[in-house]
Parts: sequence; structure tokens; C-alpha cells
Amino acid sequence: MDSRGLLGLTVALLSLLSPCLTGLIPRVSFPMGSPGRRLTRFSSHEVSNTTTLLLSDDGETLYVGARDAVLALDVRHKDTIFLRTKLDWSPSEKDLEQCSMKGKKKADCPNFIRVLQFLNTTHIYACGTFAFSPRCTYVHSDTLTMSLNTDEGRGRCPYDPYQRNTAVIVDGELYTATVADYRGNRPVISRHLSEGSRVDLKLDDTLGWLEDPTFIGSSFIPREEKIYFFFSEVAREYNFIDKLIVSRVSQICTSDVGGQRTLQRRWTTFAKTQLLCQAGSELPYNVIQDVDILPPAEGAPADDTLFYGIFTSQWAGNSGRSAVCSFRLADIKSVFSGNYKVLNRDTLQWSARVQEKVANPGECGLHNASDNALRFVKENFLAEDSVRPVGKRLSVMSAEHTYSHLAVQRVQGANRRLYTVLFLLTESGYLHKAVLLPLGAHVVEEVRVFEPPQPVRSLKLSVPKGVVFVGTSEGVVRVPAYNCSYYWTCAQCVLSRDPFCGWDPVSRACVEVSGAQSGLAQDVDGGNVEEACNSISLPHRTRFGPNKLSTASCPAGELVAVSLNEVVRLQCPAASQLSQQLWERPNSRLSSDLYLELDDGSLSFVATPATLGHYLCLSTENGYRQTMAIYHVRQKSSPATPAPTSRAQLRARAAASPGPRTSAGSWPETAEPKPSPSVRNAQVTTGQLGRNATLRTEEPEFPGEEPLLSARCPNYLKELAVVSVLLVLCLGLLIAVTACGVRQRWRRKTAPQEGAPPRDSNGTTPEEQEPLNENDLFNKRSGPPLHGGHSSGLVCNGTLTDSRQHLPNTPI
Ligand SMILES: *[C@@H]1O[C@H](CO)[C@@H](O)[C@H](O)[C@H]1NC(C)=O
Ligand SMILES: *[C@@H]1O[C@H](CO)[C@@H](O)[C@H](O)[C@H]1NC(C)=O
Ligand SMILES: *[C@@H]1O[C@H](CO)[C@@H](O)[C@H](O)[C@H]1NC(C)=O
Ligand SMILES: *[C@@H]1O[C@H](CO)[C@@H](O)[C@H](O)[C@H]1NC(C)=O
Ligand SMILES: *[C@@H]1O[C@H](CO)[C@@H](O)[C@H](O)[C@H]1NC(C)=O
Repeated sequence: MDSRGLLGLTVALLSLLSPCLTGLIPRVSFPMGSPGRRLTRFSSHEVSNTTTLLLSDDGETLYVGARDAVLALDVRHKDTIFLRTKLDWSPSEKDLEQCSMKGKKKADCPNFIRVLQFLNTTHIYACGTFAFSPRCTYVHSDTLTMSLNTDEGRGRCPYDPYQRNTAVIVDGELYTATVADYRGNRPVISRHLSEGSRVDLKLDDTLGWLEDPTFIGSSFIPREEKIYFFFSEVAREYNFIDKLIVSRVSQICTSDVGGQRTLQRRWTTFAKTQLLCQAGSELPYNVIQDVDILPPAEGAPADDTLFYGIFTSQWAGNSGRSAVCSFRLADIKSVFSGNYKVLNRDTLQWSARVQEKVANPGECGLHNASDNALRFVKENFLAEDSVRPVGKRLSVMSAEHTYSHLAVQRVQGANRRLYTVLFLLTESGYLHKAVLLPLGAHVVEEVRVFEPPQPVRSLKLSVPKGVVFVGTSEGVVRVPAYNCSYYWTCAQCVLSRDPFCGWDPVSRACVEVSGAQSGLAQDVDGGNVEEACNSISLPHRTRFGPNKLSTASCPAGELVAVSLNEVVRLQCPAASQLSQQLWERPNSRLSSDLYLELDDGSLSFVATPATLGHYLCLSTENGYRQTMAIYHVRQKSSPATPAPTSRAQLRARAAASPGPRTSAGSWPETAEPKPSPSVRNAQVTTGQLGRNATLRTEEPEFPGEEPLLSARCPNYLKELAVVSVLLVLCLGLLIAVTACGVRQRWRRKTAPQEGAPPRDSNGTTPEEQEPLNENDLFNKRSGPPLHGGHSSGLVCNGTLTDSRQHLPNTPI
């Protein structure tokens, strides 16, 4: 192959790899109702379309704007959400009649609450669509009693419940972005409730300051005395492309009081620019869907404030994908203080500036500037430059998930480093928790929060309480942001790479990282179990010395009684959606003539005297191996009918049905009755197997052991083959990338060391010493992640020796 061909192959490989590398497979998946992540729900048949969520400062009351109602929910308790008070606020029969007469659907005529903001310490300001005739009112925040007379809601709240809007109250004044007419084609950004010398302001609409926008969010930055609005709109400046959509950030100053003659009662400080969520020269993700603000870290300047936005794309090439980009306040400010495009009033075309700069558009304090200056800012409101994302790259790109809402927070890891954690809600009803790392995002987990997909949603993160609230059409769901106790060994805790969780060697539990605690095992960046779990001091080191280990008896494993010539199928569960499974037999190779390793990780073979004995199912993740199941295949006392043994038949059978966890012949129950393992429901769905393969975690066989998982997977052979190839490619690349570091580590450990320190600490108590030893034995690390691993030092049937001492870290 010539070098061009080689290059082509490399490019092809890389393009195959890139979706893998950027692919976001959540490590663990919690389905609906999983006890691993207990969700608390509030729903009531009287409450629906909970579109607006507002959390009190103390995090104890959640105000909900729903259909025809405002609710105050008591969210202090972990296990329940109480309805504290409810305000019913619905249009009268007459209003509804008029709404229907105007040709609106009855279902769209109720009062959908779309503005809910704290006005002062005692009152909330609320606005609703009110039968296509928006109204606003003052609501007492304790009693939820409403003021007697309501305000007209025009310009504050949309008429149509399907139109998006945003609102924020600063110093008792309401700043809104919404459409201000019945037909929905007069968008406006305006200020209301101004008093004294302050006047209500709105956008001058003679020059088309907004073009068919969809408003997404708004944020007040006190230091700047500015409010930033986020929206998407049609880009007039690119008039060569039909209906090109761009995302925008716009600004106004809270000190604005309008001009004296020019721009009277109009913003003098409005400016807008493009937000460009784009990596390199790829197609941009041009349509903003949601935005959240991340205040600067303690001690950092306000300019380090970040805005995280979800973006989707207008183009088919990117359909179904979504991206997250972050933008620095400093970059936004610098674009607004730069040059502006100029609008030709005759042709309504934009061009770069040729005229002299008379004023600085976007500057605060222009209220008594000259008419000339005000005319200038009135015509120059589109900044020439675009705001580019931090690092000029996407923070997250997902080809599989369409994200619709996000919340962001900073979390201090056990190493005191700060990590950015995103909570991303997918269209299909999953909440992803992703930690942003230099090499890309790692999705720690996903939690299913609703099914089927819901059209109306909102997301609210309570950082001090560590919970995420999700508003759906049916109610409110409270999702704990983390559950460290779900991970019950040091290895699992570290592999999760969850910055909220660290392994505490003293209590031998995976616990929440708090500022006060030190010495927790955690490795968010690398997930290196061996380093993280060994670096912490082990309190009972002497208790599991090598002597004990060598006298430990062979693990019983699960007995599988078979008749000779029966087809046996052993299940191997996955430790996580990112793990790889493999099988081992003590002292013997798994020859492909005798054994069939199926795509779901299970092992199939014909029972012969040679194949009786112990089987270990191992799971490899991030270079770390753990034992997921142990089987002892033994001959039944009474002989059974011989079964066919040809390899083709074997394969056919294996593929025929998911079958029970261990099975013989045509999958009858195992001869020796075993209590069926109780399902812990800590469900894990494997990425390699596709969405439908559900695994169940079961009670451990013996204390201290890793949870056993059993797979019930339909066969999707083709998909699996493709995914496997991709996976192998990915892993290949990963191995290559980490080869250097890993090789060095192995080199250090080449010589087996007598009495090496135990390599894993786990959740067992000293009383559970024997099992603990076994566990310790099973949690061994060996060769490269994908290496066959037939070199285990485990010798069963009474002559068990410590694998760690003899063939522990055998290098390749
Ligand atoms: C956390 O996980 C553990 C173990 O799966 C479970 O018992 C517990 O209920 C979970 N807690 C929450 C709040 O989800
Ligand atoms: C209200 O919720 C229902 C589903 O419960 C949904 O069909 C309807 O579109 C929602 N209405 C609005 C205005 O969002
Ligand atoms: C809050 O605003 C409401 C409505 O304007 C007013 O009646 C109330 O007195 C205010 N409360 C305080 C503490 O200022
Ligand atoms: C600008 O207007 C403010 C009142 O809005 C006034 O106090 C001030 O003197 C004016 N400044 C100038 C330079 O005219
Ligand atoms: C998953 O299972 C459901 C019901 O069992 C089925 O309708 C669906 O087609 C399956 N999905 C895939 C990808 O096979």
C-alpha cells in the first residue's frame, strides 16, 4: 500500500474513531424506578403543564407555574414533596368563550403561567397567557394570595402558550423578552414596573432590531449593571442564505432611562451579537435551546462568568445532534465594545462600518447624549464580531442525544480541584450528568426521569441541596444530583469518576466529597483504580497478609449442575456500560474449538469431562479488572439425555433465546435448586448491547463480593458486530495513547512482589475476612485491558493460591 493509501486508511479510521471518541455513553444508566437513584415525584390530577420553576433562596420551597395554578411545594424532605399552598388562577367562562371564538383550540385557552419571579421579600410577580389575553399579578409568597386587580400582561408574557419567553426582575423592575401581540409577530424586549424618574422602556421597532426571535433565557450581571438576553433569530446580515438562523446574545443596561428626544422611552443601550457554537470549520450548531450561567469561582473576577448553552443545528447533516458551548463574559463584553455593522436604511442591508464612529453602542449612560449620538446607536446595534466559545471548541457534542435543557455547577473534587458538572436533559427523558475534562466530557451516569417523552419541561438545580428539579407536563420530579453509596467498593467509586464521590478508607464507603474531609480516593481525570485505591491508607492492612490468602479456600461460585453433552451457557454481566467482559478458567485456555463467547458476554460450551470446573467472568474497565461472576460447572448425579454437540447447533442454540442465567440443554432449570437471586434493581444497561439489553444487579453471592449481574439480552448480532468493531478501534487508539504511561507503570511492577500491599480496599468489615480475601483476590489487575487474560494464577479445587503473588501483574 502506498503512502497515499495509508493516509486514506488512517483518515478513514480516524473518521470511524471520531464518533467513538466524542460519543457519550453514560457509564451507568438508572432506569425508571431504580432504587439506585430514588426520585421523588409530585403530581396531582389537578396539576399539569408545569412550565415555570422558581426556587426560594433557602432551597426549601419550590414555586411552580402550571396550568391555571401557581403552587408552593415544600421540598425540604428527601422522600416526599408536599403541596404547601396552591393558587387557582384561571380565566372565566366568558374569557374562555372569547378565546374559542377567536379560533383558538380549547386546550390552549387556559392560563399557562409563564413568568414567575421574586419581586421583593414578600411578593412574587406572576404572569400567564390567560386565554390569549395575558395577565400579571402580585402573589404573596407565603400565602399565595393574589392581588385584587391584575395588570395587563402585554409585552410581559406571550399570548400563545407555545411561544417561548424569558423574564427577570431586578430592583423591582421586570425585564422581559417575549412577543407582544396576539399573532406572535411583534417581538419585544422591554422593562415594566418602573417608578419615579425611571420609565418603562422597550425596543424601538422601526428598524427591525429583532427578526422573528425565539427567546431562551436572560441573566442579570450585577457588576456590569447589565442584563443579557439569549435567543435565536433569522440572520438578516447573511442575506445570501435563505432564513439562516443564528444564536444571539443581546444586552441592555439597567441604568437606561431612554433618550430625551431621540429614543424616548426606548432602549439607548441595546446591542446584539452572534454566539457561534462551532468547532473549527465544521457546520455551526446555530440554534440555541437553553442556557445557564456559571458564576466565577470564589475569588475570580466577574469577567470569568461563563454561560453554558445547548445548541442544535438547522442543517440536516447535524440533525438529531446537539452540542454544548460555553461563553465567557469577558469575550461577550469585548465583542460589544468593538465595532458594529451598519444598516443601510434604504436597502436594509448590513455592511461593515465606513462612517465615523459618533458613539459607542452598547455603552451605559447615554440618556442625555446628543440626538446625533443616539441616532447612531439606534442604527448600530449589531456587533461586527461574533462571540466564540471558550477554547474555540464544543464542550460537549452528542450525536445520539438531543439535549433540551441544562444546568451547570462547579464541584470541588477530593484533590481540591474544581470540576464543571453539567446536568443535561434529553428529549427522550434522561438526565445525563457529565463532568467536563480536558480531553472531553465523561458522562458519569444517566437517570431516566420521565417516559414517554414530555413536551413541556423545565430544569432547576439546587446546588446547596444537591438536587435537580425537572418540571414535566405531569408534575415535578426531584432527582438527587449524586448517590455515592450506590458504589460499594473503592474500585467502583473511583471508576465512576464522579467528582461528588470519593472512597473513604476509614468508613470503607463511597461518600460525598466535602471540604472538611481529606484522604478520599478519587480520580476524576483518569479513573485509575490502582493508583487511587492504593494511595489511601488502608486501616486493616495486616489483616489480609499473604499467608491468609494462600490458605483461603476456593470460592464456591455458583454451582451449575449439568449432564455430559449438554450445552451450557454462562452469563457474564457488565460492570458498567463502558466495561468489557472476558472469561477465564483456572489453569486452562478457553480454546475457540470448545468455547463460544457470545456477543452479550456469555459463554457457551458443551459439557464434557474437560469442560467441567470453575469459570470466572471478568470485567475490564479503564485498565482495571474485576470479577463479576464465578461458576462451578459440575456433573449432575443422574445422567440426562445426551444433547447434540456440533458447533453449528451450539451456536444456533446460543442465539436462539436469551435463556436463563445458567442453562443446560434446552435451558431447563439447573438441577440443584438455588434461591433465585433477588433483584436489586440497580440496573445497568450496557452501551455495547444497545438500549434494550437490561442487566440486573443481584445480591452478592458472598459478602464483600462485587455485585453479580445477570444479563437478559436479546441478540442484535449485526448491531453488536458494528459496535464491537468500533469499540475495538476505540480501545486500540486508547491503548496507543496511554501506552507510554501504562508501560511505565507495568515496568515498575514486572517483578512479582511477595507481600505486596493489598491492592484494593473494599466495603467489607473485618468480620468478613475470608470473603474479603477472596474479593481481594478477584479484584486483580492484569495485562493490558484487551489482552486475553488467560494467565490467571487462580488455581481452584483445593489448591488455591494467591494469584497476586504468583502471576499478578504479568506484563504482556
Ligand atoms: C443510593 O443507592 C443505594 C444503593 O443502591 C440505595 O439503597 C439508596 O436508596 C440510594 N439512595 C438514593 C437517594 O437514591
Ligand atoms: C400541556 O400538557 C399536555 C400534556 O399533558 C400537552 O399535550 C399540551 O401540549 C401542553 N400545553 C402546552 C400549552 O404546553
Ligand atoms: C412588595 O411588593 C408588593 C407589591 O408592590 C407590596 O405590596 C409589598 O409591600 C412589597 N413588600 C415589601 C417588603 O416591600
Ligand atoms: C444627564 O442627565 C442627568 C439626569 O438624567 C442629569 O443629572 C445630568 O446633569 C445630565 N448630564 C449632562 C452632561 O447633561
Ligand atoms: C426494544 O424492545 C421493545 C419492546 O420489547 C421493542 O419494541 C423495540 O423494537 C426494541 N428496540 C430495539 C432497538 O430492538
